[in-house]
Amino acid sequence: MSGKKKGREMEVVPGAGATTEKGAAKMIKLVAICGSLRRDSMNRGLIRSAIKLCRECIDGMEIEQVEIDALPFINPDLEAGATFPPPVDAFRRRILEADALLFAFPEYNYSLPAPLKNAIDWASRPPNVLADKTAAMVSAAGGSGGNRSQAHLRQIGVFLDLHFINKPELFIVRGGQPPQKFDADGNLIDPHIKDDLKSLLLSLKAFTLRLHPNISSS
Ligand SMILES: Cc1cc2nc3c(=O)[nH]c(=O)nc-3n(C[C@H](O)[C@H](O)[C@H](O)COP(=O)(O)O)c2cc1C
Repeated sequence: MSGKKKGREMEVVPGAGATTEKGAAKMIKLVAICGSLRRDSMNRGLIRSAIKLCRECIDGMEIEQVEIDALPFINPDLEAGATFPPPVDAFRRRILEADALLFAFPEYNYSLPAPLKNAIDWASRPPNVLADKTAAMVSAAGGSGGNRSQAHLRQIGVFLDLHFINKPELFIVRGGQPPQKFDADGNLIDPHIKDDLKSLLLSLKAFTLRLHPNISSS
């Protein structure tokens, strides 16, 4: 799960997940989780935009998305000692290898969507793989823009030692006044929201480097 891998000279920074080729600049490894399972999800579109922004204009940070739809419902009976069902184990490893997390999720009935809460519950099982990670959250939702679901995730983060940036906040109200923010496939098309998303990613990058100075990004 960590340590050195022979052959390709990969190394894992202790206390964080940043992986790099030896000699090259270290990258902050950001794992993104979408809380909506909907095919044309706007929140998934936000993650696609974040990946593009990172590639095109943010040095030293890369994003990978991890899926949560194959996870079984949380049930400690499925744990055998320290082992988990294979999809849970794969998910936990991806989290463990990350330095930082990006959550993009809608609001469902004033709270987190159940699939996201389920994923967090699995990640929290001992040893809690979310501990000491930095994180940021964004949401596209109905009339609330996701402010109540974001507040609930912050509260969960306190218990799990998952450290969220406080600002900037990004709540996107679906629909609302024109111009349109997303196209029919869930792609973010609003240039102002793209700028806000970039600011949020830069804030997460700075916070991650402050909390984990052993990651020296270029
Ligand atoms: C079960 C359910 C409950 C919802 N509850 C809320 C809510 O409490 N507040 C809100 O602003 N939107 C609510 N919505 C609307 C979703 O947040 C909205 O459809 C969102 O855009 C979906 O995100 P997605 O495009 O990423 O799937 C709810 C939608 C569903 C399906």
